[in-house]
Amino acid sequence: MDFLFEVLLGERPPFGLPIGEREWLRYRLSVVAAVEQFTAVLGDWVLGENGLDRAAPDPVMLDLLRWHGAEEVEHRSVAFDMYEHCGGEDPARYARRLAGMAVTAPVLLYLWAWGAAYLIRHDPWLAGRLRYSLREHKRAVAKGLLPSWRQLGAAVPRYLRRSYHPSQEGSLQRALDYLATSPAARAVAGAVGRAAIA
Ligand SMILES: [Fe+2]
Repeated sequence: MDFLFEVLLGERPPFGLPIGEREWLRYRLSVVAAVEQFTAVLGDWVLGENGLDRAAPDPVMLDLLRWHGAEEVEHRSVAFDMYEHCGGEDPARYARRLAGMAVTAPVLLYLWAWGAAYLIRHDPWLAGRLRYSLREHKRAVAKGLLPSWRQLGAAVPRYLRRSYHPSQEGSLQRALDYLATSPAARAVAGAVGRAAIA
């Protein structure tokens, strides 16, 4: 994560690369827009997948996960629209969008696989009982506990279409419906309302 935020998305181009200040900002936006493509896909997945309910997890954790998913779907177009707005002239804008995805997809792939293995290794309940592997991933997919690599990979060609816009990704209505009923979101709204009255 440090490498992602300090080098790939750092204030200045890494390794002394001769990239102008504005171009570096545009490139960073293109990476964030590509990341948001995946977070929108994941967000929509956690809202729609009832395998997560069947696994009977801690309800507060599941609500937190789904609230975050809904929030990702809700803001899925913000970075993309900002990128398109600041992206300069086409065809450079489109080419840089492709470059942003070319950098982002392998970094996220690595972070997911390595991050999952790390979390399992450090989980006092799972450590020694489970190891992250493609076979375990497939098993979890069959139970509806993880999206498949194919589902995640399919987000890439969609994003590469010239006419693509993230508003086509997932269901905004489902996200808003969840935010309206999420116990955590309602508790916060209630607390804010009470504080305003007091
Ligand atoms: Fe996001």
